[in-house]
Amino acid sequence: MLSRREGDVLVITVNRPDKLNALNAATLDALDAAFAEAAGDDGVRAVILTGAGPKAFVAGADIAEMNTLSPVQGRDFSLRGQRMMRRVEKMPKPVIAMINGFALGGGLELAMCCHLRIAADTAKVGQPEINLGLIPGFGGTQRLLRLAGRAATLELCMVGAPIDATRAAALGIVNRVVAAAELEAETLKLATQLAGAAPLALRGVIDCVNVGGECGIEEGLEYETAQFGLMFSTDDMREGTTAFLERRKPAFKGS
Ligand code: COA
Repeated sequence: MLSRREGDVLVITVNRPDKLNALNAATLDALDAAFAEAAGDDGVRAVILTGAGPKAFVAGADIAEMNTLSPVQGRDFSLRGQRMMRRVEKMPKPVIAMINGFALGGGLELAMCCHLRIAADTAKVGQPEINLGLIPGFGGTQRLLRLAGRAATLELCMVGAPIDATRAAALGIVNRVVAAAELEAETLKLATQLAGAAPLALRGVIDCVNVGGECGIEEGLEYETAQFGLMFSTDDMREGTTAFLERRKPAFKGS
C-alpha cells in the first residue's frame, strides 16, 4: 500500500498490481491502519483511494488466499473486510474512490464504502463471487442494495457479470464517469474542493447520511436537527455565513 500527500489530500493506493490489487488479509489490515491514521490527522482533509497499475482498482478479495480457508477463517475474513470498510464509511472526512479499472467483488465493496465514486470510462464493476460459489462478504449485498436497489443488486450478485462504468452511473453505483486520461486530475480537483470545505459540516453530512441509512425518518430527522444545531457552535458556520454576506470567499478552519 502506498500513501502520498497532495496538499491537504491524502492519496492511498492499493499496491499489488501483479495481482490486480486483490485484497488479502495483510492488505485489509494495511488499509485499516492507513484509514485510522488519516482519520486522526487534522492535516488530511480529504482522501482518495485507488489501485496501482493500469488495469485494476481492486479485482476482489484474494481468491488464492480464500481457497483454503475453513468456515471459521472465512467468517473471520469477512469480518476483517467488513470492519475495515465500515471504518472507511464512518471516516470523519470525505473519501473518494478513484476507480481506475476493474472494481470487482471486494473491489466494488471497497469502492461502495467510500463516500463518492469517480470511475474511468474504461472501468468495469461487478459482484462476480457467484462464479466462485460464493457471495459478497465485505458488505456488498447490503451496500449495493442501499445504493442501487433490489433489482440491480440481485442482478449483479446472481448473474455475476461485470457492467461498464456508464451503466454503473445510470444505476447510481458511481457518481461520475470521466475519460480515463482525465481520471486523476478530475478526482484530485474534486478532492481539493472538498478539502477546502468546512470539515465539521462535511462530517455532519457524512454522519447524518450514515445514521439516516439505518433508521426511520423520524429518528433521522431528529439526528439531522441535532447536527444542524451543533453547526451553530462552530467558527466555520460564522465564517461561512459572514463571508457570504460580505461577498468574499470563506476560509474554513475546522473549528
Ligand atoms: N484474487 C487473487 N488473484 C487475482 C484476483 C483475485 N481476486 N484477480 C486477479 N488475480 C491475479 C490473477 O490470478 C493473475 O495472477 P498470476 O499472474 O499470478 O496468474 C493476475 O492477478 C492477473 O490477472 P489475470 O486474470 O491474468 O488478468 P486478466 O486481465 O486476464 O483478467 C480479470 C482480469 C479481473 C477479469 C480476472 O483477473 C478476474 O476475473 N479476477 C477475479 C475477479 C473476481 O472474481 N473477484 C471476486 C473475488 S471474491
